[in-house]
Amino acid sequence: MIILLMGVAGAGKTTVGAMLADDLGWPFYDGDAFHPAANVEKMRQNVPLTDADRLPWLTALRRLIDELVRQETSAVVTCSAIKQAYRDQLLDGPGEVREVFLKGDFALIQERMQKRRGHYFKADLLRSQFDALEEPDFGLVIDIAQPLEAMVQQIRQTLAL
Ligand SMILES: Nc1ncnc2c1ncn2[C@@H]1O[C@H](COP(=O)(O)OP(=O)(O)OP(=O)(O)O)[C@@H](O)[C@H]1O
Ligand SMILES: [Mg+2]
Repeated sequence: MIILLMGVAGAGKTTVGAMLADDLGWPFYDGDAFHPAANVEKMRQNVPLTDADRLPWLTALRRLIDELVRQETSAVVTCSAIKQAYRDQLLDGPGEVREVFLKGDFALIQERMQKRRGHYFKADLLRSQFDALEEPDFGLVIDIAQPLEAMVQQIRQTLAL
């Protein structure tokens, strides 16, 4: 099984994903690591990515997911995938991939991002993510106001893992 964790910047994808993968003893792939260097530089300079910028990133993640499915390897993968079009580029519909959306409101995520270490907080970026967000109407929705351990437990229980 592949668990795809989605949500806006600061929703907790990396933190929850790493904890869940560790708990399950599964490999963890953080979607951010699949950006080409040009995108990383843009993000560093706080320049919003265009859909054209996202194409090679989503293609690389798609390749990863297809390869994991082919190898029948269980894994936890993260990708913000805030728009349906991005999710369509990642997945063909129901299959081995379980989609988990981390849901929280702007104020909570803003507060967490302001406290996050090693990251420069970009309020505009968070606002633009909420503006662009198309919440998935399928898959599992997890409330991020809970403690991390409760989120991991809820995901495991719901997916019977
Ligand atoms: N359930 C939680 N309770 C308390 N703090 C949390 C929780 N989930 C995440 N955090 C904190 O919120 C911050 C953002 O989380 P994280 O970096 O995992 O988000 P992200 O979705 O990976 O963001 P990005 O898209 O920018 O990579 C971190 O400092 C993390 O420790
Ligand atoms: Mg992250």
